Amino acid sequence: MFIELERKRRSIRKYKDKPVEPEKIELLVEAALYAPSSRAFRPWEFVVVQERALIAKLAKAKSSGSSFVAGAPLAIVVCADTEKSDVWIEDASIASTMILLAAESADLGACWVQIRNRSRDDTTTAEEHIREVLRLPDRVAVLAVIAVGYPDEVKTPHTKDELLYAQVHDTQFGKPWSKP
Ligand SMILES: Cc1cc2nc3c(=O)[nH]c(=O)nc-3n(C[C@H](O)[C@H](O)[C@H](O)COP(=O)(O)O)c2cc1C
Repeated sequence: MFIELERKRRSIRKYKDKPVEPEKIELLVEAALYAPSSRAFRPWEFVVVQERALIAKLAKAKSSGSSFVAGAPLAIVVCADTEKSDVWIEDASIASTMILLAAESADLGACWVQIRNRSRDDTTTAEEHIREVLRLPDRVAVLAVIAVGYPDEVKTPHTKDELLYAQVHDTQFGKPWSKP
């Protein structure tokens, strides 16, 4: 059941020193490309990076929250052609979620690293850094880097008790929804 994947998924930031097999990389890419998109415009552009030196450069996109990427054997940089859709952020976010869940289904660990709207230092943005490293054309914007690898950390799954059911409303805002 799909919900089982959701129940055990966690953000994994430590990876075994083991490459991700080509079939699994293909699965992640396929999962991303099946994502729904507004008006079926499919504005995404994905950059699949396995070269260690390049991954190390991606890990330097932000002063915090991205350094762990250096330990990942695979990074998928989720971008989009901003000229193809005015809702590319939504489209690219859905594709990113698909990659996270496909990774979980393939016994891989993954973590989303936010690039869009994040700064690198006082003068440059995380996106400018990625843009330079990957030589992206101007029309292509970066949403996130998804780091992927075989998990080298064990994380307790979230429990149903942690879920914010208080933020689910019944018919009208403020009227608590109760589980059937
Ligand atoms: C939009 C978004 C941006 C995120 N950015 C980062 C990030 O830059 N660095 C990072 O280590 N984790 C990042 N995460 C992962 C979150 O920290 C993580 O999903 C959250 O703490 C919940 O933990 P869980 O995924 O294990 O359930 C991001 C997640 C999302 C959805």
